[in-house]
Amino acid sequence: MPEFLPLPDGGAIRKLWVGERDAYRDHLLRLDQESRYRRFSGAVSAEFIARHAASAFEPGAVLHGFFVDGTLRGVAELRRLGPIFAREGEAAFSVEQPWQSQGVGSVLLERTLLSARNRGIKTLHMHCLAENRRMQQLARKFEADLHFDFGSVVGEVDPPRYTALSLMREAVVDAHGVAAAMLEAQSRLLRVA
Ligand SMILES: CC(C)(COP(=O)(O)OP(=O)(O)OC[C@H]1O[C@@H](n2cnc3c(N)ncnc32)[C@H](O)[C@@H]1OP(=O)(O)O)[C@@H](O)C(=O)NCCC(=O)NCCS
Repeated sequence: MPEFLPLPDGGAIRKLWVGERDAYRDHLLRLDQESRYRRFSGAVSAEFIARHAASAFEPGAVLHGFFVDGTLRGVAELRRLGPIFAREGEAAFSVEQPWQSQGVGSVLLERTLLSARNRGIKTLHMHCLAENRRMQQLARKFEADLHFDFGSVVGEVDPPRYTALSLMREAVVDAHGVAAAMLEAQSRLLRVA
């Protein structure tokens, strides 16, 4: 698995909080038509997106967000399939068009794989359309951790078990994400004042 890939200048990734449902909805609504279609493997309405965002923060779900100047521009959703102790999960990704092809999806997938591993998820499903070359290319970067099955990507999280080091890595990136968010909020307040 690549280690701590770089992000575009001014961007930061951190976990989303449950109170950020509206920010998630607004991000999904800003996706261009093609990206929205690819994200949901079909055409979906604004109402569908609002319902999806409202229910995404279910217990056990982990959402990583990519922020630029305090605005959410990309999200990786990880949720468990089945009961809380189930070892299968599902991941889905969205990056707004101006920030695509700059490595954001790669960092989101890297963080998602780490979170999956630390939660004991062994098999990760990522449904994507057969013609979604970019998502398949992205998954291919993590070939050591994922394998492919026709249009959808089915990933074996490898190594499957968490270790003290993998738990610490997640704690470190979380702490860094929170600190960056606080600094960003402070500097926005100063810019307004
Ligand atoms: C798929 C998606 C999440 C990828 O995020 P991203 O930030 O664009 O991805 P990255 O910049 O990390 O690129 C990942 C790989 O895709 C490939 N790639 C990038 N741009 C590409 C393009 N225009 N065409 C084909 N492949 C491309 C590259 O191989 C890249 O790897 P590299 O950095 O080694 O060259 C994003 O494009 C997106 O949100 N698309 C719409 C929604 C979607 O398709 N979601 C997936 C289904 S859940």
